[in-house]
Amino acid sequence: MKTISFRLNGEARRIETWPEEPLIDVLRQTFKLKSVKAGCAPQKECGSCVALIDGVPKVTCSVRIAQVEGRAILTLEGVSDNERRLYADAFQVAAGLQCGFCTPGLVLRIKWMTDQGRQLSRAEIARALDGHLCRCTGYVKIIDAVELIQAAKQGGALPAAVEDGGVGARLRRYQGGELALGARPFVADIDVSGMLHGVVVLSKHARARVTRIDVAKALALPGVAAVATARDVPGERWVGQIYKDWPCFVAEGEEVRCVGDVVAAVAAESTRVARQAASLVEVEYEPLAPVLDPAEAIKPGAPQVNPRHENVLSVTRYARGDVEAALAQSAHVVGGVWTTQRIEHLFLEPEAALAVPLPDGRLHFYSQGQGIFEDRRQVASVLGEPEERLFFELMPNGGGFGGKEDMTIQAQTALLARMTGRPVRIELNREESILMHPKRHPLTMTYTVGCDADGRLTAAKVDMLGDSGAYASVGGKVLERAAAHACGPYRMPALAIEAVAAYTNNPPCGAMRGFGANQASFAIEGCLDLLAAKAGLDRWEMRWRNILRVGDVFTTGQVLEKSVGVEKTLLAVKSAYDAARAQGRAVGIACAIKNVGLGNGAIEYGKSRLAVHSDGTVDLHTGFTEMGQGLLTILTQCAVEVTGLPAGIFRPQVNTRYELGGGQTTGSRGSLIAGRAVIDAAEKLKADLDGGLTLADLAGRVYAGEIRIDDTTAPGELKNGKIKTHTTFGWATQVVVLGENGALQRVIAAHDVGRALNPQQCEAQIQGAVHMGLGYALTEELPCKDGRPVTFKLREIGVLRAQHMPEVEVILVEDPEPEGPFGAKGVGEIGLVPTAGAVAGALEAYDGVRRTRLPMKDSPAARAINLGRIADADRDQWH
Ligand code: FES
Ligand code: FES
Repeated sequence: MKTISFRLNGEARRIETWPEEPLIDVLRQTFKLKSVKAGCAPQKECGSCVALIDGVPKVTCSVRIAQVEGRAILTLEGVSDNERRLYADAFQVAAGLQCGFCTPGLVLRIKWMTDQGRQLSRAEIARALDGHLCRCTGYVKIIDAVELIQAAKQGGALPAAVEDGGVGARLRRYQGGELALGARPFVADIDVSGMLHGVVVLSKHARARVTRIDVAKALALPGVAAVATARDVPGERWVGQIYKDWPCFVAEGEEVRCVGDVVAAVAAESTRVARQAASLVEVEYEPLAPVLDPAEAIKPGAPQVNPRHENVLSVTRYARGDVEAALAQSAHVVGGVWTTQRIEHLFLEPEAALAVPLPDGRLHFYSQGQGIFEDRRQVASVLGEPEERLFFELMPNGGGFGGKEDMTIQAQTALLARMTGRPVRIELNREESILMHPKRHPLTMTYTVGCDADGRLTAAKVDMLGDSGAYASVGGKVLERAAAHACGPYRMPALAIEAVAAYTNNPPCGAMRGFGANQASFAIEGCLDLLAAKAGLDRWEMRWRNILRVGDVFTTGQVLEKSVGVEKTLLAVKSAYDAARAQGRAVGIACAIKNVGLGNGAIEYGKSRLAVHSDGTVDLHTGFTEMGQGLLTILTQCAVEVTGLPAGIFRPQVNTRYELGGGQTTGSRGSLIAGRAVIDAAEKLKADLDGGLTLADLAGRVYAGEIRIDDTTAPGELKNGKIKTHTTFGWATQVVVLGENGALQRVIAAHDVGRALNPQQCEAQIQGAVHMGLGYALTEELPCKDGRPVTFKLREIGVLRAQHMPEVEVILVEDPEPEGPFGAKGVGEIGLVPTAGAVAGALEAYDGVRRTRLPMKDSPAARAINLGRIADADRDQWH
């Protein structure tokens, strides 16, 4: 131990500590300065932990406490109130934050940049932000915020944020100011008196039999309160959203099935002791040959990966017409194999969970999952307790994108709290996070598609095989969606589609933004381009001749009766597309469709509750998750629109106090379903207001809202004589323009959102999705070798930084959806569905190479981005 002296936020400090202690830990744990976030520590690659040291931004996860002897440290908590207000306001005016996890670190960097007094261009700002990763925004609106701050510091006035408004208003994000300043706690920021720190022990093998688990040495370590293994689980040990095929602890005698499997969990007085104890848990394995190739996995005789299901997880088929005959009669036929890669969500906030035993015997669970009611159901099952004994509260969620739907550490945290009777918090580090949650599926897709001499599509034959990894998660549903979207937003008179999801010993794959539609889009858009070339048609024209319109039949057999906005989006990009081509630019174009809502025969509920208080505020309860997409702001706007009450009185809340469960926040359905439920409750409140009562008169009253969607059909089924696989769909057309060197220059994204409930947030969602789509196209991947990711480093995973982003122009098209709230439909996912296909088309226009494998690292656009350098030799050959 050593005494270290420094100034922190203007005050002299002197502490006794280990000299090697990372500064981030001292700031967060000793001084409780929670604006400093741990996104990737100790990788020093995300920027969320930035503090100013002697006035200069430094990532505090790379600084040892001994290095700050005699120096001055500034965190956001030490910045003056006026300046804090400037940053919070600018970020809200510009809509420069979504989940807000990256924002405090960015703000300090921006303070430093703008304090220099130099007028920076957008390109210079983007370069200066290179040390920061944002997974939500696509950086466009962050740079807008910097420009506002820059102007304000040079004497300009900051535009006022929109404080009130209903549908169509650019209302500022609910609690956006607190999030921007790091003042709204995430789960990992909450400290509770008497809290223990938990750590999980993960499998070292992708497939092995566990022959012995010995926790004696770990338990004997001073400061350790409990070590949990499978034998401590009082209830059902197997969890899962659809199939219970995933043990929250693997037991002695069983197989581990992937490298993220949990064999033990430790609770101790500090994270340091917990980690030391975890290293003392002795696990003996008998390694087995892992099943890594999905094509091999589904062959007869392959070892069964998961004891609860055969290796074929699901098969989805769609068929109509005589495909072989139609192809034989087609003027042009193209085909090939398109492959896509495994993708890591890389939400900036790693998973964290906190379980606090209450005096009445209940457990208060602080969650950042995408469905707290689902989490409660599964945790109750593991604990063997009734759900009423568990109170789940949603905390700010630092990004999800589908990756926080499955259980990771919820059950282990709750169990340790029950075993010790004390609060327990588990926070995963980045490597553990990547190991534990499911990924985007790698798919192999074999396509044969024909068209007539006029370029009109005739038939498609498609085979898809997806690697779902060791557990089902929602993998079968992903392949079901991939099959449904196999022909994109195009009329296909004859089709034969088969999509198979396979178990392997690779990391599980499940939900990720786009949910199978992205992979299919990459392939079908490639086919459209190839057919356009054969038919001698311009690519825009090829799409114009084939897009779905009202009255047409979608791949699933659903007749599209309403709100088919793809034609409008195609028209919206035409002038930009033509202009770029006229300038001799390499241009790509792709259209897209994405289902909104679960559909496929699922009964979907939306429930809400408006409770009026005597102080004039109204609690707005929903069961859906705010994860940066702006749901709570949108729901407020729906309530404002109906009631005419000011936005500021609504207080959105997400917890399990009332039975408002409606499933996971997934499938772009938050606005659609939760929005309609809020409208239902708000109309009842409005009726009382219209009856002459004031809000004061209504204090104590509660208005419940509920909607039920039960008219969709499962694949291959009819209801009331018709097929309706989905309530509605999002539609889009994107154009990608390359510069003279083949690098990304511009993206034009035209999206039919039905109705823009908050246009600024719609734009922000699409910009962020385009960023994710460009990474998917060019640089992002998470390859595995022997079932283990070959890297956990953010830069090698290949998420784009601000300086890699081209100009992104969003065009909002409004083709109202009759079943949506005020005509709106979901916009969360579709923003990246067409992007990779459009990039591939642009690249082919540039160098004549048709690329069918993602990421397209061999392209000039990828080479212009210094990211994602993973050697091919480091990966298994089939990924
Ligand atoms: S936590 Fe320090 S850079 Fe990511
Ligand atoms: S707002 Fe930047 S990571 Fe979510």
